[in-house]
Amino acid sequence: MDSIAFLIADTESIEDGNYLRLGNELLQRGFGVAVCLIDSISMHDSNIRVKGFTLNRAMNDGDSIPALESFDLSIFSHLWLLSLGFRRTFLDKMQLLYSISDRVHIINSLDTITHLNSKYFLATRPGQFKYPATYASTDPEELYQIMQQGGMWIAKPPAGSLGREVFLISHEDANARVILETLCGPDKDQFTLLQAYIQGVEKGEKRVLLAGGKPIGQYRRIAKNDHRNNLHQGASSEMCELTAQETRYCIALGAFLKDFGAEFVGLDLVYPWIIEFNVINPGGLVTIEELGGQDLTAMIIDEIGFTHS
Ligand SMILES: Nc1ncnc2c1ncn2[C@@H]1O[C@H](COP(=O)(O)OP(=O)(O)O)[C@@H](O)[C@H]1O
Ligand SMILES: [Mg+2]
Repeated sequence: MDSIAFLIADTESIEDGNYLRLGNELLQRGFGVAVCLIDSISMHDSNIRVKGFTLNRAMNDGDSIPALESFDLSIFSHLWLLSLGFRRTFLDKMQLLYSISDRVHIINSLDTITHLNSKYFLATRPGQFKYPATYASTDPEELYQIMQQGGMWIAKPPAGSLGREVFLISHEDANARVILETLCGPDKDQFTLLQAYIQGVEKGEKRVLLAGGKPIGQYRRIAKNDHRNNLHQGASSEMCELTAQETRYCIALGAFLKDFGAEFVGLDLVYPWIIEFNVINPGGLVTIEELGGQDLTAMIIDEIGFTHS
């Protein structure tokens, strides 16, 4: 029987979201399904182990977490990473998972998780898609000098999430220098991105869900009294369509992402500008349904093309 382990962050109870819906769907299709905690990964002799629980029935929102068992990760045919867990152990976890990546199919690929999750790679593909001019440094003064050319800028961490530490600044802003200093840290040991401000973001951005390289659903997010269109920062969401141009663009981007091993992605679009590719646990499944759209879970599984071996 094919089997899959979802790797998630520690949680007090079962919560509605990607692992609940995707796990239930695969269980119903005859897969062995386990839900495991990403930060419990360890090495035992030559085995990579993790703690988690197997499903013998569908999960419901609010269910308590069953007693945890320890599994050898290479018994699973697929692993689906839906959290990176603690930041400090990111490299160790990637290296531990890499050691079994020739035996287990990992969604999304470790290349994707390592490189598309950061915003550096995106800035170096001008032939593939539009991405704002981007500078990165641990030296706040270097970044401060760059922004003296004028205009509006975004300063943010290279691999942050949920809109945390994303600042809108200009050279006229007396806070600009201290914001860059704070982001780089007192010991100047944290990288900071300085990015040209994308005009039009204030009208909202489209979150497009891509599965197996194909756009399958989308909605618009619009911030209120904030420059960040993140739902976690109070932005509102509404249903929207993709224009024919946007659809063609997303299909081309989907092919590029699939080649990279990115099978389930949330892309943030202010056409033609890409804000980011969300490759770890992209939100959208629950939001689209709450907005009156369909539950896309089965379509995600179909498009990724899980096959029984
Ligand atoms: N270059 C930019 N121009 C305009 N707005 C931006 C830019 N970068 C980020 N933002 C705004 O900040 C939000 C969060 O930035 P993002 O890079 O997606 O970080 P996170 O990974 O924390 O969501 C975006 O959704 C967008 O509203
Ligand atoms: Mg974002």
